[in-house]
Amino acid sequence: MQLFIDTANIEEIRHLATWGILDGVTTNPSLMAKEGKDPRKVIEEICTLVNGPISAEVISTKYPEMIAEAKELIKIHPNIVIKLPTTEDGLIALKALSDLGIKTNMTLIFSAMQALFCAKNGATYVSPFIGRLDDIGVNGTALIAEIKTIFTQYNLKTKILAASIRHCEHLKNVALAGSDVATVPASVLKQAIKHPLTDSGLAKFLDDYKKSNL
Ligand code: E4P
Repeated sequence: MQLFIDTANIEEIRHLATWGILDGVTTNPSLMAKEGKDPRKVIEEICTLVNGPISAEVISTKYPEMIAEAKELIKIHPNIVIKLPTTEDGLIALKALSDLGIKTNMTLIFSAMQALFCAKNGATYVSPFIGRLDDIGVNGTALIAEIKTIFTQYNLKTKILAASIRHCEHLKNVALAGSDVATVPASVLKQAIKHPLTDSGLAKFLDDYKKSNL
């Protein structure tokens, strides 16, 4: 499973990029707002830190404006992937961008049919929001499994990008469900590398070594 980092924070990206496991980055307007910087400049800087797909989201809601915004965003770097909301207008913009060979990430997916429609229109990625479904008592991981079954059955090339990952259990579950990619906040990546038995085991190794006078 590929791993993207879900943040617009340059320091987090810079730090996590040193681990060598990052395949790409996703941003969204809320994450951008948290940074309080010019979003275009943030995306430009991200492109210098990670050599992989970088999702930049449009803020227009009507398809002609979405398409125009996308055409400006792709000028930033060849790795830019245009993130569009999964609405009627988003679906129309998706078709136009796919026809132009522009890579896309369809966001705010909460049902298998939304994912299927996007795949039919040539989406590069679909982003089902796992955590937000769990928040309303719906099993987010089950949605990943459903989409996986449908895409496999019809040999659809669109990649599943599990989003809204809130904890390590989400991350493991979407990997087990066959998600192609997971986009993960830095805090969850940092939790996932840790295990208390690793820490106590290492402390014991070092302690034993010190006592042995080697
Ligand atoms: C995905 O691309 C989104 O940026 C993100 O995963 C949303 O997560 P949230 O539901 O924790 O805001």
